[in-house]
Amino acid sequence: MSEQPKQQIERLRDELNRHNYNYYVLNTPEISDRDFDMMMKELERLEKEYPEYADPLSPTQRVGSDINKAFTQHVHQRPMLSLGNTYSIEEVDDFVTRTRDALMGEDFTIIGEMKYDGTSISLTYEHGKLVRAVTRGDGERGDVVTDNVKTIKSVPLRLQGTGWPDEFEIRGEIVLPWIEFDRLNAEREFNEEPLFANPRNAASGTLKMQNSAEVARRGLDAVFYYLLGDNLPFDNHYDNMMAAKEWGFKVTPVMKPLHGIDDVDKFIEHWDTARKELPMATDGLVFKVNNLRQQLNLGYTAKSPRWAIAYKFQAERALTQLQHVSFEVGRMGIVTPVANLDPVLLSGTIVKRASLHNESIIRTLDIHDHDMLYVEKGGEIIPKVTGVDVKARAPEAKPIEFVTHCPVCGTPLVRIEGEAAWMCTNKEGCAPQICGRLEHFVGRRMMNIEGIGEEIVVILFRNGWVKSPADLYTLKRYSQDMMRLPGMGPRTVERILDGIEASKSVPFERVVYALSIPYVGETVAKKLARAVRDIDTLMEADIETLTSIDDIGPRIAESITEYFNNPVNRDMVEHLRAAGLRMSMPEEDESSRTSLLEGKTIVISGTFSRHSRDEYKEMIERNGGKNASGISKKTDFVLAGENMGPAKLEKARSLNVPIINEDEFLAMITQ
Ligand code: IVH
Repeated sequence: MSEQPKQQIERLRDELNRHNYNYYVLNTPEISDRDFDMMMKELERLEKEYPEYADPLSPTQRVGSDINKAFTQHVHQRPMLSLGNTYSIEEVDDFVTRTRDALMGEDFTIIGEMKYDGTSISLTYEHGKLVRAVTRGDGERGDVVTDNVKTIKSVPLRLQGTGWPDEFEIRGEIVLPWIEFDRLNAEREFNEEPLFANPRNAASGTLKMQNSAEVARRGLDAVFYYLLGDNLPFDNHYDNMMAAKEWGFKVTPVMKPLHGIDDVDKFIEHWDTARKELPMATDGLVFKVNNLRQQLNLGYTAKSPRWAIAYKFQAERALTQLQHVSFEVGRMGIVTPVANLDPVLLSGTIVKRASLHNESIIRTLDIHDHDMLYVEKGGEIIPKVTGVDVKARAPEAKPIEFVTHCPVCGTPLVRIEGEAAWMCTNKEGCAPQICGRLEHFVGRRMMNIEGIGEEIVVILFRNGWVKSPADLYTLKRYSQDMMRLPGMGPRTVERILDGIEASKSVPFERVVYALSIPYVGETVAKKLARAVRDIDTLMEADIETLTSIDDIGPRIAESITEYFNNPVNRDMVEHLRAAGLRMSMPEEDESSRTSLLEGKTIVISGTFSRHSRDEYKEMIERNGGKNASGISKKTDFVLAGENMGPAKLEKARSLNVPIINEDEFLAMITQ
């Protein structure tokens, strides 16, 4: 007999979980990516066909969603403490001596581990299932980020093996591996979005994102180092972590039992350099007394355990001479000063350039011509100028002056209000700005025109064939000329033209992003497109209309109106429209509209489990109702989820406004 759907679904889930574990935790995949994808697709299909077997912990649920959900807070059952830390080996040795004295001569083992540089997380498992992921917050309470953590493939949603306590907590560090960090920053640099200073900031920023689909894309990982609970399997830290490894967790791979000061010192000496080879950022080492009873005896200070200490690595610093400061013009016209340095070796790479970000940094550090500069690369990949060796300065050296005119086109720079940045306003005539906008337009997350990258953009521009994104759509007429360029055979040209053709079916929201409207990044573009639905509405929208859209503030609104007040931009849009680009969102399915909530004003409060707030908002509107933010006499009812705010509850009660839950609401609109 063939398998029942339920068994089939369960089998696929088990297999996919196992392959995830092999791939993401053990780094030893057993099947090809393609086979994995096919199994996943099959499971998705079955789950769609048999929604009665849905499971939020299914491997299909790791993809995240576009839905925005504000975080709720959770009080840690056991507070999340920090560690006492030091930069000195002597102080670590003192810690060992102190521990020996406090344990009154009893034998003890210390476990040496890496200190990963990310953001801490606490996971709670009940009956072998992940129930909650909470950030450290203030140590007492943190944000519930379960949906985001579920997208991290090395985090087990269900445990494997046996012997786990019914309820326990495991703590670890959410990290962004170097390779993902570099990829993310390269992408941000291209989009002219501010770069993350280090993987720690990137990891914590990512974890707090509202859009878990974006989190899934970023490639976070998690390493675990602390197991807490009432019925742990062993009486010592090391064995408990090894058990956690058996249950499917990625446990810190470096965990070395150490006996005495000599061992500890050797461990430090080894990892001070060896850590640079690791795939993730580390900022030190942690030493923990292994035995749990001894841990208890040693106890805690107000902030940290007495049974552990962190040794922090010194940030690496080099001294090198400034050759000159160059001023570089970006896509939006912002001029960024860059320190060009005598090449110097720092944390294994040769550093030649360091961003000085803006004028105020040059002023604060008081940098002069040919100064000797301290360059650091702590957890950071982008070197940072952190200081000046003033003693080494030549007496005649002059302070670095910020340019007053655009270094490329000569236009006088203007100061952006409220910011430290200077800008070249010659949007249509300044080559790096034009090329920057073109590069952005063809980018993967914008129009995704294959075959055109930075170099080709410059070639197309220099030859006078393309000055504005709209010119790409008439590029065909130069195909003969293009083929004559060195290294540009017919195949390359064909690929470019095909890519341009294919871009005509890119969705409207990405077209909005591709336009390079200042302050309109990817998320804002999406929100705008979904709210206005077509380009004409966007072009005509005034500040008031724009600011009434979620997350669009006055600054973005002003930037949009200013952009469309410029005839050059309007003209470009018209050309793009004529070329056949998508200038509206697809028609909504009118059959899903009803008037079941006609004339009703509804307030949404709390957090929901079946749909997100935004989805409920959309449902209200689709059924003819109006969503309002505050409760008043005019409110017909409150759609309340969990944790409705006490003030709102009180107000609803005092005004006799009915409160209904999500199930009641869903029943109401599915009559
Ligand atoms: S143990 C009560 N082990 O460092 C002790 N922490 O300053 C709990 N960290 O908040 C922490 N690697 O985010 C421990 N191997 C490791 C660690 C580690 C990184 C972080 C963690 C903690 C902070 C302590």
